Amino acid sequence: MDTFIFKNKFSQNEANRCLLCIDAPCTKACQKSNDPAKMLFSLRFENNKVKNYFDPFSCKNCDAKCEKACVHYDFPIRIKETAATIENCDLTPKEADLSCTFMNVKCENPFFLSSSVVASNYEMCSNALKMGWAGIVFKTIGFLQPKEVSPRFAAMKKESTPFVGFRNLEQIAEHELSENLKFISDLKKDFPNKVIVSSIMGQNDQEWTDLARLSQEAGADIIECNFSCPHMSGNGLGSDVGQDAQLVKHYCECTRKGTTLPILAKMTPNIGHIEIPAIAAIEGGADGIAAINTIKSLSSFDIKSMTSKPSIKGKTSISGYSGKAIKPIALRFINDLSSCKELKNVPLSGMGGIENWKDALEFIALGCSNIQITTSVMQYGYRIIDDLKAGLSTYMNEQQINSLSDMVSIANQNIVSSTDLDRDTIVYPIFNSDKCVGCGRCYISCNDAGHQAIKFHLRKRKPILLGSKCVGCHLCKLVCPVDAITSSKRISKPNATFAQEEIV
Ligand SMILES: Cc1cc2nc3c(=O)[nH]c(=O)nc-3n(C[C@H](O)[C@H](O)[C@H](O)COP(=O)(O)O)c2cc1C
Repeated sequence: MDTFIFKNKFSQNEANRCLLCIDAPCTKACQKSNDPAKMLFSLRFENNKVKNYFDPFSCKNCDAKCEKACVHYDFPIRIKETAATIENCDLTPKEADLSCTFMNVKCENPFFLSSSVVASNYEMCSNALKMGWAGIVFKTIGFLQPKEVSPRFAAMKKESTPFVGFRNLEQIAEHELSENLKFISDLKKDFPNKVIVSSIMGQNDQEWTDLARLSQEAGADIIECNFSCPHMSGNGLGSDVGQDAQLVKHYCECTRKGTTLPILAKMTPNIGHIEIPAIAAIEGGADGIAAINTIKSLSSFDIKSMTSKPSIKGKTSISGYSGKAIKPIALRFINDLSSCKELKNVPLSGMGGIENWKDALEFIALGCSNIQITTSVMQYGYRIIDDLKAGLSTYMNEQQINSLSDMVSIANQNIVSSTDLDRDTIVYPIFNSDKCVGCGRCYISCNDAGHQAIKFHLRKRKPILLGSKCVGCHLCKLVCPVDAITSSKRISKPNATFAQEEIV
């Protein structure tokens, strides 16, 4: 039996269970100079660089002091067994050149903190920059100093995953404008080779111009116009602006009056056609587009009190949704922008649910030459930069890609209108009975939500495909917990008498 898949599932599950402790007691306890904490972190973020942190051979005969030191509330992470599963991984990654140019500004890599609480004072930003982030988009500044609510965050769970999506009710920077400008100016002085972006939000024409001018005087490299916060406490701000193309154009013109720096217009996803305000932004003088800000949302109801979180004296408001759950929506908007002919060659900065290097690569492949992140940093900290850089480096080395710019937009050609998709062929599921554990999840889903094309042999505990009923939807493949279902060759529909008819 091929145990590789189980081994990988096992190690992935152990990595997912790891609490990602601040001071890594497992690594401290290791007497073989390995770094189990980083190994687990890398596995968690689907990064093959694990080998660099770990020599699996050296821990074969070890008494696993790392596991004894593990502080897990349930039972210790099975580090030795997990390490054993990476024996086959013999990658020897070297750093790839991640440097790139974004709106004529040189960046050591494409990864920036996006404008939010994660980049809201000097100390935070300097910590992130020292850890390897190429740039920061400072928390949106304005003349308006908002009064915030408490609490202001809520997280969406799915089964055992505690944090698939995140809601926030936070507005723009809480510090005074002069204090924020001083942070920006000190950051540029102390980190001349990093990219400092000033995110601004004005309440009228003059404020947009003044904020742009003040940001440039403070030393910012790029201005980002926040047209997209979905929960500002005043009307005519944030995503109210971003939904109105004329206003977007007008405020870009006002911003342009105050600065000669490159301007990024940050779009709202709370709109059907994001390219309309994006085109207007470029007409108004913006040089690039950033997308997406958070999505208007409600969630997390307490079904006894019928209050939704975050609950402020029993009340809440429509607020911004971010994190992994919004990635598909963000990618859709990125594709809309990069495939729009009026926006050809307009630089794109992408964000929305990016957690690991693979997520980032999807945004790059759909047209982004810059990546921004907030929610994943809120959950895991600035340290995710190690895996973002290592994962992308490893991929580029493996694929023999020399430059980040060679990956920008490589996937766009594969996104077509649904009218242009082939509808005359079919791909059947193939059941691998060695890998199948006999749970019957494929049967249940096909029976209740598919085309009743799977029978379940209760004694043998194996699914049986009824080829003549199967429409090739692949729901069975998606619900299989052990990846025991693969795909047949694509064949034309009329000739489709499938070979696996009634075969286990
Ligand atoms: C707590 C919080 C505060 C935010 N504040 C701002 C802000 O001040 N300005 C802004 O342009 N976007 C703000 N955002 C939006 C993020 O910059 C980003 O566009 C969005 O969260 C999607 O990316 P993510 O899924 O990586 O978080 C905020 C997001 C969160 C979660």
